[in-house]
Amino acid sequence: MKIPKHLAVIMDGNGRWARERGLPRIAGHYEGIKRAEELVDDCIELGIKWLTLFTFSTENWKRPQSEVKALMKLLEGYLRENSYKLVEKGINLSFIGRRDRLPYSLSKEMERAENIKPKQEKIKVILAVDYGGRDEIIRAAKRLLEMNRDITEENFKDLSDLPNAPYPDLLIRTGGEKRISNFLLWHIAYTELYFTDTYWPDFTKEELLKALEDFSKRERKFGAVL
Ligand code: IPE
Ligand code: IPE
Ligand code: MG
Repeated sequence: MKIPKHLAVIMDGNGRWARERGLPRIAGHYEGIKRAEELVDDCIELGIKWLTLFTFSTENWKRPQSEVKALMKLLEGYLRENSYKLVEKGINLSFIGRRDRLPYSLSKEMERAENIKPKQEKIKVILAVDYGGRDEIIRAAKRLLEMNRDITEENFKDLSDLPNAPYPDLLIRTGGEKRISNFLLWHIAYTELYFTDTYWPDFTKEELLKALEDFSKRERKFGAVL
């Protein structure tokens, strides 16, 4: 089986997962975080070195304030209680997206987690929080201008949110929608896309292996003739 160097995931379907069980949407998000933690373990085991997870989009602010608030609290609490695991598991955690609109206490917790670096790194996990692909492109373009640098693909990537990451090889979206929803626009130009109806909280290791098997059969041409 081919293993992607960089896997990106749009973790969608938490709300519907909860609704179908008569639970509040936030219960789906709670379950979703647990599943994300398991996915990281699975990726380490499989030798995936980069994992980028869409956690909160620049458009998710449009949701009811109560859900937004609960999501922020959930993430903050999760980081506070669990970041001690990063070292023992060999996880290098970082964040992409905007920081200026997040609750102060959450951004502090993110900073703290980001500064915990394992000696023996097994995986880089990147959480996209208040992240939008268009917003990232605009920010990178502004910085290019400010620094008076040439507008080249190399310089642009250098000033993007993922300057050091290889471009994602595979993007998985759970939850049935077949769209990108403003995730990683620049970076996924040649990424293989995999869509599944499975809601995020039900996306088990078995489901991951199915996606990887499908990915293994893809012929990546990058515009060339093979
Ligand atoms: C994805 O699940 C998680 C976030 C956007 C934070 P949703 O909350 O979008 O779940 P559905 O799509 O409404 O089921
Ligand atoms: C994308 O899911 C964002 C995350 C998973 C964080 P959404 O549920 O926000 O996307 P749309 O609204 O269905 O396009
Ligand atoms: Mg959704």
